[in-house]
Amino acid sequence: MEKKDLDWGSLPFSYMKTDYSYVCNYKNGAWEEGGLTTDHSLQMSECAGVLHYAQTIFEGLKAYTTESGDIVCFRPDLNAQRMADSAARLCMPEFPQDKFVEAVKEVVTANAAWVPPFGSGATLYVRPYMFATGDVIGVKPADEYQFRILVTPVGPYFKGGDTAVTITVADYDRAAPHGTGNIKAGLNYAMSLYPGEKAHAAGYAENLYLDSMTRTYVEETGGANILLVDKDGNLVVPQSFTNSILPSITRRSLVVVARDILGMNVIERPVKFQEILDGDFVECGMCGTAAVISPVGHIEAEGIDVTFPDGAETSGPVMHKLRSTLTEIQSGKVEGPEGWVVKIL
Ligand code: PLP
Ligand code: COI
Repeated sequence: MEKKDLDWGSLPFSYMKTDYSYVCNYKNGAWEEGGLTTDHSLQMSECAGVLHYAQTIFEGLKAYTTESGDIVCFRPDLNAQRMADSAARLCMPEFPQDKFVEAVKEVVTANAAWVPPFGSGATLYVRPYMFATGDVIGVKPADEYQFRILVTPVGPYFKGGDTAVTITVADYDRAAPHGTGNIKAGLNYAMSLYPGEKAHAAGYAENLYLDSMTRTYVEETGGANILLVDKDGNLVVPQSFTNSILPSITRRSLVVVARDILGMNVIERPVKFQEILDGDFVECGMCGTAAVISPVGHIEAEGIDVTFPDGAETSGPVMHKLRSTLTEIQSGKVEGPEGWVVKIL
């Protein structure tokens, strides 16, 4: 199969149309068969529930080319599961989880020419999403939905690659949306646009959200979970006492990589923002499908600039090791736990 003629090494993290998307409709209480489409636009009722009450959810995963030329994806069953959790929270029907994984395989296979080659630094981003197409005027769940998957080749989410970025803390009045951040609902992200733009305009790469109840504990950033390394070399993973951190598949995988493959000590616990201000951590990173692990060199907030001494300019040694081990598992160089890397083609 001949690959598309793209400059793979300089792709931004943005959308481009590929050959096929996947589409499946829910009507009369059941999902239709579903299948591929070459139609990349949609038409729907002016009264569709998604347009009025934001009944829409999404997922994000990637397809990779391995060193031996296979096309694989990473733990798609966990995306299927999380999408089902998001659907339940927004009163939407569950898209059957086996069907989800099959649909990912089908749409990636059909777009194999768009999967960036091994070593290019790019990947095929896979975006499953579901939204209410049925009419609603009173506030209630719709009775018709569409599930789609689009795929698009992407480069790094944070420009500058391994250069450590500076993040800031979102204002109190903007913290609440991420208080329901344990699901991937479009409305959480819509509510993060304002503080996100404000942070970008001030020169920051991202916002860090504190818990919306007490503004005391570290939650996550706008598009990624947070990882920290303490002075004793432990990997410290913030936990939310309000269950409002998105259960990142990357983070859950990295905990296993750190503990079982790299033999590190991993501590999952609520982390007070004050501990960061006190300089208790030597490295910080943002992790996620899009972010992979992006190093955070500084957090500026409340007039204080906290520097992470072991990773102020580029990834510190722990973040570097975690990132290289994870990407080697994803690209087939290192064998990961059973079932993590799923062959598509
Ligand atoms: N947190 C937020 C708010 C996100 O949008 C994402 C991206 O999906 C993540 C964390 C990372 O999750 P995952 O590793 O499953 O991609
Ligand atoms: C992902 O990592 O897949 C996400 O959904 C994050 C998003 C901000 C691009």
